[in-house]
Amino acid sequence: MKPYVVAIDGPAGAGKSTLAKRLAKELGIAYIDTGAMYRACALYAIESGINPKVDSPELRSLLETAEIDFRTVKEEQKIFLNDIDVSREIREPHISTGASDISALPFVRDMLVTMQRNLAKGKSVLMDGRDIGTNVFPDAQVKVFLTADVAERANRRFLELQEKGDPSTYEQVLHEMTARDEQDKNREYAPLRQAEDAYLLDTTQMNLEESFQALFQYTAKKLQHLD
Ligand code: DC
Repeated sequence: MKPYVVAIDGPAGAGKSTLAKRLAKELGIAYIDTGAMYRACALYAIESGINPKVDSPELRSLLETAEIDFRTVKEEQKIFLNDIDVSREIREPHISTGASDISALPFVRDMLVTMQRNLAKGKSVLMDGRDIGTNVFPDAQVKVFLTADVAERANRRFLELQEKGDPSTYEQVLHEMTARDEQDKNREYAPLRQAEDAYLLDTTQMNLEESFQALFQYTAKKLQHLD
């Protein structure tokens, strides 16, 4: 089979990364979490005291020095920023907001989209994000738009944070998620949008296993028709 791309897009907290990781493993192809790349850029800016919301000469020259790469450590995929493992730091709630802010800047998107296309050269990949099926790989062989009601997504994220000992309340998580969805959907450049030819998978009423089975069955069916 020739190299192919599976594109999974959708709003925050729809279960994209958990499901995508498992699907990539099942298919035996590379998994690329593009949200983590925007998060790493946001972390770099915020830690350097530079506003991630504004296209400034300082932000441009800082990001020119950003080396982002994925590495497998003890069978887990980690993201490195300038040789430092930042996989945990990028998940903090203020970095989520910063990532959404920085992802609205066209020069940041251009830089990361180029990187994403290079990462997929010559091999099959599964990429998840917001604009993979619409912008990064409009010709992807499999496109899925994964979503769920915002209250359900916020509840899942809240439980996840609670497990990690994070003190955020459900209301705070819901507020942050709604704000981020609005910003991601309404930005001018490559907004979050379902591609016309993407399969809509709404997991509001499904548990993780049911969601995975639905995703796997659809993908397997699409891949059957490839040569
Ligand atoms: O998937 P995530 O929550 O880790 O993504 C963090 C932010 O990055 C998200 O709010 C919007 C942005 N993003 C994007 O604009 N395009 C992508 N392909 C992936 C993420």
